[in-house]
Amino acid sequence: MNDSATSSAREPLTSVQPALPAAWYRDPVHYARELQVFWYGMWIVVAREEESAAAGDYRVIGIGTQSVLVVRGEDGSLRAFHNTCRHRGSILATVAQGGLAGRRIVCPYHGWTYDLEGRLAATPRRMPTPDFDPRQYPLYAVALDCWGGFVFVNLKGEDAPPLDESLGGLPQALQRHGLADLRIGKRIVLDVRANWKILAENFAECYHCPPVHPELCRIVTAYREGGAWGLHRDAAGQPLAEQRPKYLPGAATLTLDGSARIPPFRGLTPDERARIYMAKELRPNLFLNVQPDYLNTQMMFPTGPESVRMVYDWLFEPESLAGPGFDLEHYVALWDVTNRQDARNCEWQQQGLHALPFRHGHFMPQEFDGHRFSRWVRSALGGA
Ligand code: FES
Ligand SMILES: [Fe+2]
Repeated sequence: MNDSATSSAREPLTSVQPALPAAWYRDPVHYARELQVFWYGMWIVVAREEESAAAGDYRVIGIGTQSVLVVRGEDGSLRAFHNTCRHRGSILATVAQGGLAGRRIVCPYHGWTYDLEGRLAATPRRMPTPDFDPRQYPLYAVALDCWGGFVFVNLKGEDAPPLDESLGGLPQALQRHGLADLRIGKRIVLDVRANWKILAENFAECYHCPPVHPELCRIVTAYREGGAWGLHRDAAGQPLAEQRPKYLPGAATLTLDGSARIPPFRGLTPDERARIYMAKELRPNLFLNVQPDYLNTQMMFPTGPESVRMVYDWLFEPESLAGPGFDLEHYVALWDVTNRQDARNCEWQQQGLHALPFRHGHFMPQEFDGHRFSRWVRSALGGA
């Protein structure tokens, strides 16, 4: 549904363009290469800051074959480490989240113990030898930075470029939404049997909206045109002014009936309040459905060549969440049904592209943003 990519104009394709090779959506060798380039080489959104609020609070996030431990330190800073012990390589945290007893990371195997900054603090029962220097065995560090309340990690560690360079126009576009102060009202996690790029391409186009998303099209009436709204040109190729309204008359936000039951974000301009929906993305793994009073965010984590974990959050101003009679379900329902429709169609596409004669798909004019994504993939893989 990406009708406003952060860095690009809405220009329809003027010819049918080939999608990526079908094998790239299923081949384990190609998947391993993509893990290196995209998932172990770029900034990846892994959590919201509020999830690790107190010293010792931790979360474990799987990115491809890698397990990353994000933990809040005694000094209030978040840090990330590979979830792997320096002794003989056991994982450290065995459950996905929690609080560390004694503010120590204790390996479940032989008990090597690390502080919250990753330093080896104790090696119980170890018979001493003169060559052992605990300073040589800190946890493997992963780069971590935050923006807008989102926690990002980069497995390049010290070699990671500054996060700012990866954020593009997003901070500017959402500067008045108060993202850092928003809180999770609802989280839904879905394991989807489709390659990660299928989910990304799905988010990038609305050609599929009329058959797939009747509820969404009821409120965003522009989507009944399958992503062509606002893209029509006259005979000279000049953009035609769009006459038809974009939303259901009277709609104030994206809910099943378009009604709002909480105030819009306090910092928005009148124009921003009137814009019921914006889709934003941060490659490779964050999709943002932005309404004037809440966000539905989607974090994506590859779990295999043909599978991905989707983490859907609904973010609100804390005052709205705490308001008397706040109706969370009113705000969750539309994107929940829409996200599940997308996931189902992505799984169907994943199944179908195994057909022996199917070499690649085809992008139609209004799928310009999916095509843009595929070009980005090709270029990151070295122009393949
Ligand atoms: S593997 Fe961690 S203490 Fe032995
Ligand atoms: Fe969709």
